[in-house]
This record gives sequence, structure tokens and C-alpha cells, in this order.
Amino acid sequence: MTITNPTLELIHQHRSMRQYKPDPIAREVVETIVIAGQRASTSSNLQTYACVAVTDTTKRHELARLCGNQDQIRQAPVFLAWCADLSKLDRACALRGHPHVGDYVENFLMAAVDVALVMQNATLAAESLGLGICYIGGLRNNTRDVIRLLNLPHYMFPISGMTLGVPNDEPVIRPRLPLPAVLQWETYSSDGIDEALHDYDAAMAATGIYDNRQVAVPGKPGQMEAYGWTEHSARRVSRPARTDLREVLHEQGFELK
Ligand SMILES: Cc1cc2nc3c(=O)[nH]c(=O)nc-3n(C[C@H](O)[C@H](O)[C@H](O)COP(=O)(O)O)c2cc1C
Repeated sequence: MTITNPTLELIHQHRSMRQYKPDPIAREVVETIVIAGQRASTSSNLQTYACVAVTDTTKRHELARLCGNQDQIRQAPVFLAWCADLSKLDRACALRGHPHVGDYVENFLMAAVDVALVMQNATLAAESLGLGICYIGGLRNNTRDVIRLLNLPHYMFPISGMTLGVPNDEPVIRPRLPLPAVLQWETYSSDGIDEALHDYDAAMAATGIYDNRQVAVPGKPGQMEAYGWTEHSARRVSRPARTDLREVLHEQGFELK
């Protein structure tokens, strides 16, 4: 890539951090990061999100347990629970005497997109300050318990957590899919996708992330090939996960009509 500037350089330095120093993070720093997050675009300026910042050690340990026993949550001095939040719009409707029609898939999708945008802006802000982050989808492993622990009201739903702290590791920067697998011009075509996946397997294997694991070549008994992104990702999506979410969404007021 020939075009660059400090913002692009920062973006390209991203890697998820999973090892942290115990150094505390000042409240003002967390506020700075969340305020930067808020600068992201937001659907109709509705800002359908909220963040619960957790620093209390006991609570972080409980969150670590609820989020798949991830040690990084115990290590990082700050855990951010990013939530979809239609409760403020519910309040606006009550204050202004309008019905709140927040029952559709559209309402939840809009909020989920807003949460993703605020999180990613916050990520870049944190990384620009030399801090590390890791998203924690494990926040949805035991969603009801998380809702109880964080006291989330009706019309709030935890989308993703985020560990935040001073990095104590230099993880490899994970290559991304080749551009033709992601960027197409004028119309979409799946031509060349298999080749892109093949190239990407090689790029990911070269990072050592998969530890030189080998797997059988499908349909060719006795032949082995490097374990790559396609095998890893296919395994990841070949089993159900977090199958209770529709129910919990309903309980929180997201009817998903
Ligand atoms: C919504 C979301 C949830 C994630 N959840 C977890 C998680 O629970 N634990 C974890 O270690 N990493 C988690 N990750 C981090 C991804 O594994 C990581 O972003 C991906 O492997 C790419 O690596 P990179 O961020 O270092 O480029 C999550 C990322 C996203 C975007």
C-alpha cells in the first residue's frame, strides 16, 4: 500500500490485546475513549447505545467467569460492556407522549450497528493512546446473568464487551482476506473466491497462529494439508452458539417482529 498517513498507520497497527499490565487506567482516559466513540456516525443521530465501564475487581472476575473464563478480563483494569440501548428512546417517547414502536428487527439491527460503530471508534481512540483492547463476544455467553450483574433495564441488551488496558504483549498483526474477496466493483461476483481463500490460508498459516496443525484433505484419505483459516472458520460455524439470544432479546423488550 503506497498511500498512508498517521491515521492509516494507526488503523493498520491494530491487533487484539489479550495480555495486560496491572496499571490502572484513569477515569478521564476512559471518558476520552468513550467520547471519541460517540463521534462515530449513528443512525438518525439516535445514539442507541450505552457503555458500562467496570473496574471493580470482584465484578471483573465475575464477568471473566461469565464470558467464557477469559483471563484477559481478570487482567485488564477496565472492562467495557457495550450495549444496545433503546431505553433512552423509550423515555423520550414517554416524555413527549408518543408511542414507542421499537419491536421490529429493524430497531434492534439499527442499535446493533450503532454499537459496532461506537466500539470501533473507541478502539481506535484507545489504540492512539498506546492502550490495547480486545472485543469480548463472550459477553453473550451467559446473557441473562450479565444483564442481572450490570443491572440492564428493559430495552437494553449487551452486544459485546471490551477489555482495555496497558498492553503486555506484542501479538502478531493478523492478515486479512485478500482484497478481491472483499472489494468488488459495480456488481458482485464470487469468481476467484476459492483462490482468495486458498491464498489466505497460506497467509494465515505463515503467521504461526495455527501452530502448524495439519488436517486431512477432504475426500483424499491419507493426505494432509496445513490447518488454515478455512478449516478454522468452517469449524467455528459448524456448531450452534448462544442459541438462547432470541429468548433473552424478547425478555429485554426486543420483540424482533
Ligand atoms: C464482536 C467481536 C467479539 C470478539 N470476541 C472475542 C472474545 O470473546 N475473546 C477474544 O479473545 N477475542 C474476541 N474477539 C477478537 C477477534 O478474535 C479478533 O478481532 C480477530 O481474531 C482478528 O484479530 P485482530 O483483532 O488481532 O486483528 C472478538 C472480536 C469481535 C469483533
